[in-house]
Amino acid sequence: MDMKKLLFVGFGCLLLSGCASKVPETPVTLKSALADKFYIGTALNQAQFSGRDTEGIRVIREQFSAVVPENCMKSEVIHPEEDRYDFTQADQFVAFGEANDLFITGHCLVWHSQTPPWLFVDAKGKEVSKEVLIERMKAHITTVVSRYKGRIKGWDVVNEAILDDGSYRESKFYKIIGEEFIPLAFQFAHEADPDAELYYNDYSMAFEGKRNGVVALVKSLKAKGLRIDGVGMQGHIGMDYPAIEEFEKSLLAFAELGVNVMITELDLTVLPSPKMDVGADVASTFEYQQTMNPYADGLPEDVDAAWTARYNEFFKLFLKHQDKITRVTLWGVSDGDSWRNGWPIPGRTDYALLFDRNHQPKPIVNLIIKEAQQ
Ligand code: G3I
Repeated sequence: MDMKKLLFVGFGCLLLSGCASKVPETPVTLKSALADKFYIGTALNQAQFSGRDTEGIRVIREQFSAVVPENCMKSEVIHPEEDRYDFTQADQFVAFGEANDLFITGHCLVWHSQTPPWLFVDAKGKEVSKEVLIERMKAHITTVVSRYKGRIKGWDVVNEAILDDGSYRESKFYKIIGEEFIPLAFQFAHEADPDAELYYNDYSMAFEGKRNGVVALVKSLKAKGLRIDGVGMQGHIGMDYPAIEEFEKSLLAFAELGVNVMITELDLTVLPSPKMDVGADVASTFEYQQTMNPYADGLPEDVDAAWTARYNEFFKLFLKHQDKITRVTLWGVSDGDSWRNGWPIPGRTDYALLFDRNHQPKPIVNLIIKEAQQ
Protein backbone atom coordinates (compact mmCIF):
# COMPACT_ATOMS: atom_id res chain seq x y z
CA MET A 1 0.00 0.00 0.00
CA ASP A 2 1.58 3.33 -1.02
CA MET A 3 2.23 6.11 1.51
CA LYS A 4 -0.73 8.21 0.36
CA LYS A 5 -3.20 5.38 0.89
CA LEU A 6 -1.58 4.53 4.22
CA LEU A 7 -1.99 8.14 5.43
CA PHE A 8 -5.58 8.22 4.16
CA VAL A 9 -6.49 5.02 5.99
CA GLY A 10 -4.64 6.15 9.10
CA PHE A 11 -6.44 9.53 9.17
CA GLY A 12 -9.74 7.76 8.59
CA CYS A 13 -9.13 5.60 11.67
CA LEU A 14 -8.31 8.66 13.68
CA LEU A 15 -11.54 10.35 12.60
CA LEU A 16 -13.55 7.23 13.38
CA SER A 17 -11.92 6.89 16.76
CA GLY A 18 -12.69 10.56 17.31
CA CYS A 19 -9.06 11.40 18.15
CA ALA A 20 -8.50 13.85 15.32
CA SER A 21 -11.67 15.76 16.14
CA LYS A 22 -10.48 16.36 19.78
CA VAL A 23 -9.55 20.02 20.06
CA PRO A 24 -6.91 20.34 22.79
CA GLU A 25 -8.77 21.48 25.90
CA THR A 26 -7.99 24.87 27.38
CA PRO A 27 -6.06 24.09 30.57
CA VAL A 28 -8.02 24.88 33.73
CA THR A 29 -6.23 27.52 35.79
CA LEU A 30 -6.79 29.07 39.23
CA LYS A 31 -8.48 32.00 37.51
CA SER A 32 -10.89 29.87 35.48
CA ALA A 33 -11.63 27.38 38.26
CA LEU A 34 -12.40 30.14 40.79
CA ALA A 35 -14.09 32.59 38.41
CA ASP A 36 -17.53 32.12 39.96
CA LYS A 37 -16.19 31.88 43.54
CA PHE A 38 -13.90 34.85 44.29
CA TYR A 39 -11.09 36.85 42.71
CA ILE A 40 -7.77 35.03 42.97
CA GLY A 41 -5.08 37.68 43.13
CA THR A 42 -1.41 38.27 43.62
CA ALA A 43 0.88 41.06 44.75
CA LEU A 44 3.05 42.53 42.01
CA ASN A 45 6.62 43.72 42.40
CA GLN A 46 8.37 46.24 40.17
CA ALA A 47 10.01 43.55 37.99
CA GLN A 48 6.55 42.31 37.08
CA PHE A 49 4.58 45.49 36.38
CA SER A 50 7.59 47.01 34.57
CA GLY A 51 7.59 44.00 32.20
CA ARG A 52 11.03 42.60 33.17
CA ASP A 53 9.90 39.41 34.91
CA THR A 54 8.48 37.67 31.83
CA GLU A 55 8.01 34.30 33.56
CA GLY A 56 6.21 35.93 36.47
CA ILE A 57 4.04 37.86 34.02
CA ARG A 58 3.17 34.62 32.21
CA VAL A 59 1.92 33.12 35.47
CA ILE A 60 0.00 36.26 36.40
CA ARG A 61 -1.79 36.32 33.05
CA GLU A 62 -2.60 32.60 33.17
CA GLN A 63 -3.56 32.18 36.80
CA PHE A 64 -4.74 35.39 38.46
CA SER A 65 -7.76 37.71 38.17
CA ALA A 66 -6.71 40.46 40.61
CA VAL A 67 -3.58 42.41 41.51
CA VAL A 68 -2.32 44.61 44.32
CA PRO A 69 1.01 46.51 44.48
CA GLU A 70 3.43 44.94 46.97
CA ASN A 71 5.27 48.21 47.55
CA CYS A 72 4.95 50.84 44.86
CA MET A 73 2.01 52.73 46.35
CA LYS A 74 3.35 53.01 49.87
CA SER A 75 3.72 56.61 50.97
CA GLU A 76 7.55 56.51 51.12
CA VAL A 77 7.57 55.58 47.41
CA ILE A 78 4.64 57.54 46.00
CA HIS A 79 4.96 60.72 48.11
CA PRO A 80 8.64 61.14 48.92
CA GLU A 81 8.41 64.89 49.69
CA GLU A 82 5.47 66.96 50.88
CA ASP A 83 5.16 68.82 47.56
CA ARG A 84 6.40 65.97 45.33
CA TYR A 85 4.62 62.78 44.31
CA ASP A 86 6.28 60.05 42.24
CA PHE A 87 3.66 58.07 40.36
CA THR A 88 6.11 56.42 37.97
CA GLN A 89 5.80 52.92 39.41
CA ALA A 90 2.14 53.25 40.43
CA ASP A 91 1.18 54.32 36.91
CA GLN A 92 3.02 51.29 35.48
CA PHE A 93 1.27 49.01 37.97
CA VAL A 94 -2.21 50.34 37.15
CA ALA A 95 -1.50 50.19 33.41
CA PHE A 96 -0.41 46.55 33.78
CA GLY A 97 -3.60 45.72 35.68
CA GLU A 98 -5.81 47.38 33.06
CA ALA A 99 -3.92 45.85 30.11
CA ASN A 100 -4.54 42.40 31.59
CA ASP A 101 -8.15 43.01 32.64
CA LEU A 102 -7.38 42.47 36.33
CA PHE A 103 -9.27 43.70 39.39
CA ILE A 104 -6.96 46.37 40.81
CA THR A 105 -6.62 47.11 44.51
CA GLY A 106 -4.58 50.02 45.88
CA HIS A 107 -2.29 49.34 48.85
CA CYS A 108 -2.16 51.28 51.14
CA LEU A 109 -3.23 54.83 51.91
CA VAL A 110 -2.56 55.07 55.67
CA TRP A 111 0.03 52.79 57.29
CA HIS A 112 2.38 53.44 60.22
CA SER A 113 5.24 51.79 58.30
CA GLN A 114 7.22 52.89 55.21
CA THR A 115 6.27 56.55 55.67
CA PRO A 116 8.45 59.29 54.17
CA PRO A 117 10.64 61.19 56.66
CA TRP A 118 8.76 64.50 56.25
CA LEU A 119 5.24 63.24 57.09
CA PHE A 120 5.15 63.81 60.85
CA VAL A 121 7.53 66.77 61.27
CA ASP A 122 7.73 70.42 60.20
CA ALA A 123 10.64 72.09 58.40
CA LYS A 124 12.47 72.37 61.72
CA GLY A 125 12.00 68.69 62.52
CA LYS A 126 9.40 69.41 65.18
CA GLU A 127 6.38 67.11 65.37
CA VAL A 128 3.42 68.61 63.50
CA SER A 129 0.06 69.42 65.08
CA LYS A 130 -3.10 67.36 64.75
CA GLU A 131 -4.52 69.87 62.25
CA VAL A 132 -1.41 69.81 60.07
CA LEU A 133 -1.25 66.01 60.00
CA ILE A 134 -4.96 65.77 59.13
CA GLU A 135 -4.38 68.18 56.24
CA ARG A 136 -1.34 66.17 55.08
CA MET A 137 -3.23 62.87 55.31
CA LYS A 138 -6.16 64.42 53.39
CA ALA A 139 -3.85 65.77 50.68
CA HIS A 140 -2.14 62.39 50.29
CA ILE A 141 -5.35 60.36 50.10
CA THR A 142 -7.14 62.85 47.84
CA THR A 143 -4.23 63.16 45.40
CA VAL A 144 -3.53 59.44 45.16
CA VAL A 145 -7.13 58.19 45.04
CA SER A 146 -8.27 60.90 42.58
CA ARG A 147 -5.45 60.03 40.19
CA TYR A 148 -6.77 56.49 39.82
CA LYS A 149 -10.47 57.26 40.15
CA GLY A 150 -12.55 54.59 38.40
CA ARG A 151 -9.42 52.54 37.63
CA ILE A 152 -8.46 51.23 41.09
CA LYS A 153 -11.58 49.41 42.25
CA GLY A 154 -10.75 49.08 45.93
CA TRP A 155 -8.34 50.54 48.48
CA ASP A 156 -6.62 49.31 51.60
CA VAL A 157 -7.48 52.62 53.26
CA VAL A 158 -5.96 51.89 56.68
CA ASN A 159 -3.47 49.10 57.29
CA GLU A 160 -2.55 47.47 60.64
CA ALA A 161 -3.97 50.04 63.09
CA ILE A 162 -5.13 47.49 65.70
CA LEU A 163 -2.83 45.40 67.94
CA ASP A 164 -3.22 41.71 68.77
CA ASP A 165 -5.04 42.58 72.02
CA GLY A 166 -7.56 44.79 70.19
CA SER A 167 -6.12 48.13 71.32
CA TYR A 168 -5.07 50.87 68.91
CA ARG A 169 -1.47 50.73 67.67
CA GLU A 170 0.17 53.84 69.10
CA SER A 171 1.42 54.99 65.70
CA LYS A 172 2.25 58.61 64.92
CA PHE A 173 -1.16 58.89 63.27
CA TYR A 174 -2.79 57.74 66.49
CA LYS A 175 -0.59 59.78 68.83
CA ILE A 176 -0.97 63.05 66.90
CA ILE A 177 -4.56 62.84 65.62
CA GLY A 178 -6.13 60.25 67.92
CA GLU A 179 -8.34 57.32 66.87
CA GLU A 180 -10.32 59.59 64.53
CA PHE A 181 -7.52 59.33 61.97
CA ILE A 182 -9.21 56.14 60.82
CA PRO A 183 -12.71 57.50 60.07
CA LEU A 184 -11.11 60.58 58.55
CA ALA A 185 -9.04 58.39 56.20
CA PHE A 186 -12.16 56.51 55.07
CA GLN A 187 -14.03 59.80 54.61
CA PHE A 188 -11.24 61.34 52.50
CA ALA A 189 -10.93 58.22 50.36
CA HIS A 190 -14.67 58.12 49.71
CA GLU A 191 -14.78 61.81 48.82
CA ALA A 192 -11.96 61.27 46.31
CA ASP A 193 -13.64 58.31 44.59
CA PRO A 194 -17.25 57.67 45.69
CA ASP A 195 -17.41 54.43 43.68
CA ALA A 196 -14.26 52.79 45.04
CA GLU A 197 -14.54 49.96 47.56
CA LEU A 198 -12.87 50.77 50.87
CA TYR A 199 -11.17 48.24 53.13
CA TYR A 200 -9.54 47.90 56.54
CA ASN A 201 -6.56 45.50 56.30
CA ASP A 202 -4.58 43.74 59.06
CA TYR A 203 -2.56 40.65 60.01
CA SER A 204 -2.90 38.06 62.82
CA MET A 205 -6.66 38.45 62.54
CA ALA A 206 -7.27 35.06 64.12
CA PHE A 207 -6.36 36.42 67.56
CA GLU A 208 -9.53 36.95 69.57
CA GLY A 209 -8.37 40.36 70.81
CA LYS A 210 -7.62 41.62 67.30
CA ARG A 211 -10.88 40.16 66.02
CA ASN A 212 -12.87 42.03 68.67
CA GLY A 213 -10.91 45.24 68.08
CA VAL A 214 -11.55 45.13 64.32
CA VAL A 215 -15.23 44.30 64.84
CA ALA A 216 -15.54 47.36 67.10
CA LEU A 217 -13.69 49.50 64.55
CA VAL A 218 -15.91 48.44 61.64
CA LYS A 219 -19.03 49.01 63.75
CA SER A 220 -17.81 52.50 64.67
CA LEU A 221 -17.16 53.38 61.02
CA LYS A 222 -20.62 52.16 60.04
CA ALA A 223 -22.19 54.02 62.98
CA LYS A 224 -20.63 57.22 61.58
CA GLY A 225 -22.28 56.49 58.21
CA LEU A 226 -18.91 55.94 56.54
CA ARG A 227 -18.39 53.58 53.62
CA ILE A 228 -16.46 50.40 54.43
CA ASP A 229 -16.91 47.53 52.00
CA GLY A 230 -14.52 44.94 53.32
CA VAL A 231 -12.09 43.65 55.90
CA GLY A 232 -8.77 42.28 54.67
CA MET A 233 -7.39 39.32 56.62
CA GLN A 234 -3.79 39.34 55.43
CA GLY A 235 -3.25 35.61 55.99
CA HIS A 236 0.51 35.48 56.63
CA ILE A 237 0.28 32.01 58.14
CA GLY A 238 2.67 29.37 59.44
CA MET A 239 2.63 25.60 59.74
CA ASP A 240 1.36 25.75 63.32
CA TYR A 241 -0.34 29.15 63.49
CA PRO A 242 -3.08 30.29 63.44
CA ALA A 243 -5.51 27.54 64.43
CA ILE A 244 -7.81 27.32 61.40
CA GLU A 245 -10.84 27.28 63.72
CA GLU A 246 -9.82 30.68 65.12
CA PHE A 247 -9.25 32.01 61.61
CA GLU A 248 -12.75 30.86 60.68
CA LYS A 249 -14.26 32.51 63.78
CA SER A 250 -12.73 35.83 62.72
CA LEU A 251 -13.84 35.36 59.12
CA LEU A 252 -17.41 34.79 60.31
CA ALA A 253 -17.28 37.67 62.80
CA PHE A 254 -16.27 40.11 60.04
CA ALA A 255 -18.84 38.74 57.58
CA GLU A 256 -21.49 39.13 60.31
CA LEU A 257 -20.88 42.90 60.14
CA GLY A 258 -22.24 42.99 56.59
CA VAL A 259 -18.88 43.62 54.93
CA ASN A 260 -16.99 41.48 52.42
CA VAL A 261 -14.09 39.41 53.71
CA MET A 262 -10.88 39.27 51.67
CA ILE A 263 -7.76 37.24 52.24
CA THR A 264 -5.33 39.91 51.14
CA GLU A 265 -1.69 38.77 51.63
CA LEU A 266 -1.76 34.99 51.80
CA ASP A 267 1.48 33.09 52.21
CA LEU A 268 2.42 30.00 54.24
CA THR A 269 5.93 29.94 55.64
CA VAL A 270 7.50 26.53 56.12
CA LEU A 271 10.42 27.90 58.15
CA PRO A 272 10.82 27.94 61.92
CA SER A 273 9.79 31.22 63.55
CA PRO A 274 12.04 32.91 66.09
CA LYS A 275 8.89 33.28 68.18
CA MET A 276 5.40 31.80 68.05
CA ASP A 277 3.10 33.51 65.55
CA VAL A 278 5.51 36.23 64.68
CA GLY A 279 2.64 38.11 62.91
CA ALA A 280 3.73 40.35 60.06
CA ASP A 281 5.00 43.56 61.62
CA VAL A 282 7.86 44.37 59.31
CA ALA A 283 9.62 46.13 62.17
CA SER A 284 10.26 42.91 64.08
CA THR A 285 13.33 41.19 62.60
CA PHE A 286 15.87 38.75 63.98
CA GLU A 287 19.52 37.74 63.42
CA TYR A 288 20.30 35.03 60.84
CA GLN A 289 21.06 31.57 62.26
CA GLN A 290 21.70 28.49 60.12
CA THR A 291 19.29 26.42 62.21
CA MET A 292 16.52 28.80 61.23
CA ASN A 293 17.13 28.13 57.52
CA PRO A 294 16.81 24.33 57.33
CA TYR A 295 15.63 23.93 53.71
CA ALA A 296 18.11 26.01 51.71
CA ASP A 297 18.65 23.03 49.36
CA GLY A 298 15.01 22.10 48.94
CA LEU A 299 12.04 20.81 50.89
CA PRO A 300 12.00 17.23 52.22
CA GLU A 301 9.02 15.31 50.82
CA ASP A 302 7.27 14.99 54.18
CA VAL A 303 7.55 18.74 54.86
CA ASP A 304 6.32 19.52 51.34
CA ALA A 305 3.34 17.20 51.85
CA ALA A 306 2.47 18.79 55.23
CA TRP A 307 2.78 22.27 53.71
CA THR A 308 0.48 21.29 50.82
CA ALA A 309 -2.08 19.77 53.19
CA ARG A 310 -2.15 22.91 55.36
CA TYR A 311 -2.63 25.22 52.36
CA ASN A 312 -5.36 22.93 51.11
CA GLU A 313 -7.18 23.16 54.45
CA PHE A 314 -7.24 26.96 54.18
CA PHE A 315 -8.44 26.94 50.58
CA LYS A 316 -11.17 24.47 51.54
CA LEU A 317 -12.18 26.97 54.24
CA PHE A 318 -12.22 29.84 51.70
CA LEU A 319 -14.38 27.79 49.33
CA LYS A 320 -16.70 26.82 52.20
CA HIS A 321 -17.25 30.54 52.78
CA GLN A 322 -17.13 31.68 49.15
CA ASP A 323 -20.40 33.54 49.77
CA LYS A 324 -18.57 35.81 52.24
CA ILE A 325 -15.17 36.04 50.52
CA THR A 326 -14.72 38.28 47.47
CA ARG A 327 -10.99 37.89 46.95
CA VAL A 328 -8.06 35.69 47.93
CA THR A 329 -4.74 37.33 47.12
CA LEU A 330 -1.35 35.64 47.39
CA TRP A 331 1.45 37.87 48.60
CA GLY A 332 3.58 37.25 45.55
CA VAL A 333 3.77 35.07 42.45
CA SER A 334 6.60 32.59 42.98
CA ASP A 335 8.70 31.47 45.95
CA GLY A 336 11.63 33.58 44.82
CA ASP A 337 9.48 36.73 45.07
CA SER A 338 8.32 36.18 48.64
CA TRP A 339 9.12 38.67 51.38
CA ARG A 340 9.26 35.62 53.63
CA ASN A 341 12.76 34.82 52.30
CA GLY A 342 13.96 37.95 54.09
CA TRP A 343 11.60 38.36 57.03
CA PRO A 344 11.67 37.99 60.01
CA ILE A 345 15.19 36.68 59.39
CA PRO A 346 17.16 37.85 56.32
CA GLY A 347 18.80 35.49 53.84
CA ARG A 348 16.58 32.41 54.18
CA THR A 349 14.96 30.12 51.60
CA ASP A 350 11.23 29.84 52.10
CA TYR A 351 8.53 28.10 50.05
CA ALA A 352 5.53 30.27 50.89
CA LEU A 353 3.65 30.65 47.59
CA LEU A 354 1.79 28.56 45.00
CA PHE A 355 4.45 28.66 42.26
CA ASP A 356 8.02 27.46 42.72
CA ARG A 357 11.26 29.31 41.89
CA ASN A 358 10.96 28.09 38.29
CA HIS A 359 7.46 29.56 38.11
CA GLN A 360 5.94 26.07 37.92
CA PRO A 361 2.67 25.31 39.73
CA LYS A 362 3.11 23.28 42.90
CA PRO A 363 0.72 20.33 43.53
CA ILE A 364 -1.41 22.66 45.69
CA VAL A 365 -2.55 24.48 42.53
CA ASN A 366 -4.24 21.36 41.13
CA LEU A 367 -5.71 20.55 44.54
CA ILE A 368 -7.28 24.04 44.68
CA ILE A 369 -8.63 23.65 41.13
CA LYS A 370 -10.05 20.22 41.94
CA GLU A 371 -11.63 21.52 45.16
CA ALA A 372 -13.19 24.43 43.25
CA GLN A 373 -14.69 22.04 40.70
CA GLN A 374 -16.40 19.86 43.37
O1 G3I B 1 13.08 49.44 46.37
C1 G3I B 1 14.14 49.58 47.34
C2 G3I B 1 15.47 49.49 46.63
O2 G3I B 1 15.62 50.61 45.76
C3 G3I B 1 16.58 49.48 47.69
O3 G3I B 1 17.83 49.32 47.04
C4 G3I B 1 16.34 48.33 48.66
C5 G3I B 1 17.38 48.22 49.74
O4 G3I B 1 17.19 49.28 50.64
O5 G3I B 1 15.05 48.52 49.32
C6 G3I B 1 14.00 48.46 48.36
O6 G3I B 1 12.78 48.65 49.03
C7 G3I B 1 12.38 47.51 49.81
C8 G3I B 1 10.99 47.07 49.30
O7 G3I B 1 10.46 46.03 50.11
C9 G3I B 1 11.05 46.62 47.86
O8 G3I B 1 11.87 45.48 47.77
C10 G3I B 1 12.26 47.95 51.26
O9 G3I B 1 13.56 48.22 51.75
C11 G3I B 1 11.62 46.84 52.08
O10 G3I B 1 11.35 47.32 53.41
C12 G3I B 1 10.27 46.48 51.46
O11 G3I B 1 9.72 45.40 52.22
C13 G3I B 1 8.31 45.24 52.02
C14 G3I B 1 7.60 45.44 53.38
O12 G3I B 1 6.19 45.24 53.22
C15 G3I B 1 7.79 46.84 53.90
O13 G3I B 1 7.21 47.74 52.98
C16 G3I B 1 8.04 43.85 51.50
O14 G3I B 1 8.59 43.70 50.20
C17 G3I B 1 6.54 43.62 51.45
O15 G3I B 1 6.24 42.27 51.10
C18 G3I B 1 5.90 43.89 52.81
O16 G3I B 1 4.51 43.79 52.66
C19 G3I B 1 3.74 44.08 53.86
C20 G3I B 1 2.44 44.70 53.43
O17 G3I B 1 2.70 45.87 52.67
C21 G3I B 1 1.58 45.01 54.65
N1 G3I B 1 1.34 43.79 55.43
C22 G3I B 1 2.58 43.12 55.85
C23 G3I B 1 3.41 42.78 54.62
C24 G3I B 1 4.65 42.03 55.02
O18 G3I B 1 5.45 42.85 55.81
